[in-house]
Amino acid sequence: MDNQTANRQIILTGDRPTGRLHLGHYVGSLKRRVELQNSGKFDEINILIADDQALTDNAENPGKIRDNIINVVLDYLSVGIDPAKSNICIQSQLPALHALTFYYMNLVTTARLSRNPTVKAEIQMRGFADEGLPAGFFAYPVSQAADITAFDATVVPVGEDQLPMIEQTREIVEKFNRIYGETLVMPRAMIPENLMQRRLPGVDGKAKMSKSLGNCIYLSDDPKTVKKQVNGKMFTDPTHLRIEDPGHTEGNVVFTYLDALCTDEDFAQFLPDYANLDEMKEHYRRGGLGDGTCKKFLINVLEKELAPIRAERAKWASDIGSVYDILHEGTLRAQQKTNATLARVQSAMRIDYFKDRTITGEWEKLLKEANV
Ligand code: TRP
Repeated sequence: MDNQTANRQIILTGDRPTGRLHLGHYVGSLKRRVELQNSGKFDEINILIADDQALTDNAENPGKIRDNIINVVLDYLSVGIDPAKSNICIQSQLPALHALTFYYMNLVTTARLSRNPTVKAEIQMRGFADEGLPAGFFAYPVSQAADITAFDATVVPVGEDQLPMIEQTREIVEKFNRIYGETLVMPRAMIPENLMQRRLPGVDGKAKMSKSLGNCIYLSDDPKTVKKQVNGKMFTDPTHLRIEDPGHTEGNVVFTYLDALCTDEDFAQFLPDYANLDEMKEHYRRGGLGDGTCKKFLINVLEKELAPIRAERAKWASDIGSVYDILHEGTLRAQQKTNATLARVQSAMRIDYFKDRTITGEWEKLLKEANV
């Protein structure tokens, strides 16, 4: 590691382009990314559109990944990712990442990979346990370690489900540096402080928003769709039958969303009967606060957040040529950076054969003997 690399605060984060980004992505990571971007505390911010990782369970459907790259970039730009501050790039166009993945594979055992709880859950969800597990999918945490280390990332802001990937990366870094000498930068994860933001459930209360469950609110949804998801799919408290009945706020998805999203200003603006969420919750528990009022407030809170995002998305969508240029330039910059890391790694591993005319000490000896 050279001095320029040392002490720089570098962010890398990313998403698989398998669909449009939703509110879960927003509260779990995008919002924080924008805050970090604007904090001025980082020397470099990189955002990776992980199309290669997306292909590990979509090999038969590359068209889907290709189509969603543009959706994900538009989502980024619309929430306030600023291309002048954050470098956006496409994973598949960075060949250094592939090479690093191949080297890191040798530093990880299959037993270790089998223990990754996030991958385990994904294997179940995708039915790979019965159908057969693609080796690429099984090993994607190694490729994620390549992503993170290639950018010399010190901080990786992600959702809670990504902690095992960062842990795996840290182990690879530790092992690489131990075997080949201090080369890779040790990253750390950064997850949302607000517990509710870490895992926003679907509108139906199921653990996660997922396209196949139809329980998402997408950042690009129109107001009518948002309203329909809240009014039609959010179950509140089944024991809260009449308004006067005491209600439960725990496990009540409307309150889970409010926990993740609403601020005291939202009360001043939309529901001045209460100063804050605690007061509102207390009334609900006591009885006398109707679910309709709660949902209406939530819709207002959501719209306040989503309306500007929607407007920004429309603006970028009408200037798609610029979006293309942003991605292209970002990717070219990322190529330079990741190629430099690969060169450093190969040199640490002493597989930098064409640096001078000697491949090994043995070669040098032979050259000397031959007097050349
Ligand atoms: N695995 C991440 C996800 O599913 C996406 C990702 C790929 C990523 N490479 C990364 C996240 C590097 C952070 C850093 O959301």
